[in-house]
Amino acid sequence: MAENNFKSKSLEDKMLEEKKSKFSLFKIFDINKPRKLPDKNKKYKTSFRQIVAYLLVPFRGMFFMTLFLSILQSLLFLALPILAGDIMNQIIFRMDFKFILNNFLILFIALVSMALVAYLRLYMNQFIGNSIIKILRGELFIAIENSSYSFLDHHSTGDLVARCTSDLNTLKMLLSSQITFFIRECFTVALSIIAMFYINFNITLLIIPIFPLIFYIIYRFRKRIGPIYRESRDIYGDEVTATIEENLGGVRVVRAFASEDYEIAKFNKYNDKYLQKQKEYIKLQATFEPMVRLFVNLSMAIVIFFGGRLLGTGIIQLGDLFTYLLLLNFAIEPLFFINTFLGNTAMYLQTTDRICEILNNTNIIKDPKPEDVKKFPDPVKGIIRFDHIWFSYRNNDFYELKDITFETKPGEVIAILGATGSGKTTLVNLIGRFYEATKGTIYIDGIDIRKVLQKDLRKLIAYVPQESFLFSTTIKENLLLGRSEGATMEEIIEACKLANIHDFIESLPKKYETLVGQRGVTLSGGQRQRIAIARAILKRPKILILDSATSSVDVHIEYKIQQGFKKMMANSTTFIITQRLSSVRHADRIIVLDNGRIVQMGTHNELMKDPNGIYYKLYTTLDIEKRAIESQKLLSENLISQIKE
Ligand SMILES: Nc1ncnc2c1ncn2[C@@H]1O[C@H](COP(=O)(O)OP(=O)(O)OP(=O)(O)O)[C@@H](O)[C@H]1O
Ligand SMILES: [Mg+2]
Repeated sequence: MAENNFKSKSLEDKMLEEKKSKFSLFKIFDINKPRKLPDKNKKYKTSFRQIVAYLLVPFRGMFFMTLFLSILQSLLFLALPILAGDIMNQIIFRMDFKFILNNFLILFIALVSMALVAYLRLYMNQFIGNSIIKILRGELFIAIENSSYSFLDHHSTGDLVARCTSDLNTLKMLLSSQITFFIRECFTVALSIIAMFYINFNITLLIIPIFPLIFYIIYRFRKRIGPIYRESRDIYGDEVTATIEENLGGVRVVRAFASEDYEIAKFNKYNDKYLQKQKEYIKLQATFEPMVRLFVNLSMAIVIFFGGRLLGTGIIQLGDLFTYLLLLNFAIEPLFFINTFLGNTAMYLQTTDRICEILNNTNIIKDPKPEDVKKFPDPVKGIIRFDHIWFSYRNNDFYELKDITFETKPGEVIAILGATGSGKTTLVNLIGRFYEATKGTIYIDGIDIRKVLQKDLRKLIAYVPQESFLFSTTIKENLLLGRSEGATMEEIIEACKLANIHDFIESLPKKYETLVGQRGVTLSGGQRQRIAIARAILKRPKILILDSATSSVDVHIEYKIQQGFKKMMANSTTFIITQRLSSVRHADRIIVLDNGRIVQMGTHNELMKDPNGIYYKLYTTLDIEKRAIESQKLLSENLISQIKE
């Protein structure tokens, strides 16, 4: 049965495809059809031009077609008052039924054509808008995925999300309809005025100053209302929405510090402020509309007054006066849109800037040119060499890493030790080129890591970061992140056993298919860490980086995990960053960092020989602390037993 269903469905698909290939309109409006895109290497003078290239390169023909349809629509629209006036004249003065009927027929055809043209234009406008946004959204996503960590450091998540959503929607409006509307409306105004001059030159000359006047009023109004609108939008975005977002993220912290009242008061303040701005906005809006309408109506009155007098002298006919009044209305109405569009240009330019900043992000870590690409030897040995590496986050004279030089042996376990902020995470982030070293070179098996494709480089590395991130999907899918080709269930279980998390996963109702909450919040810190470790093991990397990966795990489990690693990762060069000296002790080599510099390097025994070294001091202090804790424990146990006795 299921098979039957499947068959009939695929047949349907085929039929649809056949239908599509026969009917070429389907092809034109196929959103997935590959299209020519703007040249990525081309430098545009402004971001606006770059964005418009997304309209004109893939959709040039269609765009000009919509423009043509828009103008046609406007012409048909103008034909209405002219035809209506003519019919009116005929009825009043001649009662020539044949003529009237003919005119009615033309009017009818004009109305039907207008509807058809409007349908086509709307469809094409929307198609273009949606297609461009689909392309741009895809490109933005790729740009964000490829951007270096330092780019992400400088842009908040909220900001990037806003650019991919609301900014793109603004552009969609602009590219799908606003530009063609703008051209159409300008055309309508010009054509209506010409027709008005044609009907009566003198009245039009009298009326014409009303246009700049209305335009000026709208302009002044926009000048006043613009900042209020922007302020209210900012309050809404930066204060109201941001507070909601932050509180959703930090609800646990807020609760723990019992600061709900403070947060609620803060939120109410922003909420009130927003309403206040809205009130100002509404007040202005409410005075503006009637004022402009007053001028429009006054101009109508002038036309009726002078036109009426001319009617008496027979210079103008009633039908023409009727046409004239309608045309006047047609000429004034677009002024609102034209004005708003011109007023919005600053916003549009800002939006195109924001989108292009991501698209042209030079902060992307680049792959070498195709002719310079090198490959790692197969198999990779895992010899990593830091050659006089300096690194600065801000690209200034302040270096977070200073002259780091060392070389690992294949399969070596290197522990990196140092106070918080000494540069441990920074150091390992350079191995996968998450950040680019400011000075110096890193080699893997003798090959400069900048000379290989990042894809090839990262295939070698599994990384368990300080704060492990889980996607809001099943545990299994989270585990398979580094194995795009998939893995057998046995492999998955083996990795989870090594990471000491298998039993826990088995205890969950849906086991490996259990969904984890957003960012993994439904799991404890230690469980999350162990899933991240299993994920790293499953990748079977040549280079394994564990950044404080077991900080939330008990010492004895940590020991078990490390023993597992030793067996499984015998051929992998492993970096372990940890604050626990117990984990460092068994490493093949220990690197001690202080303020971005390597101050000591060697095995535990070697480092213990230097009583002035940081390592010795750390070890002995910790030892003293440990002994103090032990004796404290003993003391309290003794006390308890004494009390019991
Ligand atoms: N994204 C960043 N942008 C700017 N400065 C940063 C960034 N990340 C870290 N730093 C700075 O670089 C220095 C080294 O930080 P790093 O994270 O490497 O320390 P760490 O040794 O890993 O510390 P911890 O043990 O707390 O994890 C610190 O002074 C820190 O403030
Ligand atoms: Mg760190």
